[in-house]
Amino acid sequence: MKHPNWIAPSILSADFARLGDDVKDVLLSGADIVHFDVMDNHYVPNLTIGPLVCDSLKNYMTKNGLEQPIDVHLMVKPVDRVIPDFAKAGANYITFHPEASEHIDRSLGLIKDCGCKAGLVFNPATSLDYLEYVMDKIDMILIMSVNPGFGGQSFIPQALNKLRAVRKMIDASGYDIRLEIDGGVKVENIREIAEAGCDTFVSGSGLFGKGLATDPNRYDTIVRQMREELAKA
Ligand code: DX5
Ligand code: ZN
Repeated sequence: MKHPNWIAPSILSADFARLGDDVKDVLLSGADIVHFDVMDNHYVPNLTIGPLVCDSLKNYMTKNGLEQPIDVHLMVKPVDRVIPDFAKAGANYITFHPEASEHIDRSLGLIKDCGCKAGLVFNPATSLDYLEYVMDKIDMILIMSVNPGFGGQSFIPQALNKLRAVRKMIDASGYDIRLEIDGGVKVENIREIAEAGCDTFVSGSGLFGKGLATDPNRYDTIVRQMREELAKA
């Protein structure tokens, strides 16, 4: 099943001092879903934001009529403790790394029981074997094209082969599953990523990096350029 392409700004590269407005501006420029990176300085060597910020952001979005989903990417270990917190804080998708959960099937079930869509995230060296027995419980598969922990890293080209492999698995399964890429996505490479079968494109530095802080329309050009590249795929 072919999904419409979604551009997913990673708020890791947003201005945290004015997070609500920055997210509003990028959504009004046409981005489709908010990618919310959660890091714990344990599973990954960096520390970011938790459910309190998700809750505030969701409230701010609702007040401003922004109905785009929030895609929570958990880079924490263990994962089960925080899943209900993020569900209550307005997450729509919750994805986690299989290495970070002792019981992957249970964690996927917990996400679903909390009313969210569930996904697994694959680091550059992580095998796709984890998918074999849980395809029916998954709404999103996220392929990391950098090692998780930081924005602004370079795209690892091997991720394209992995996308092609996952695209085949999704199509063969017949399930309704989004295929997302995360890390080093820019206007320059988004087309070949789409051609590898991706439909959901996280971009942090590639999107937020080029704005002029004062102009509310500062993301229009970059979102439009990404869409133009996607249209060529
Ligand atoms: C990395 C995060 C990414 C990151 C992407 O661990 O999961 O979402 O913010 O940033 P860019 O697009 O700058 O690589
Ligand atoms: Zn991410």
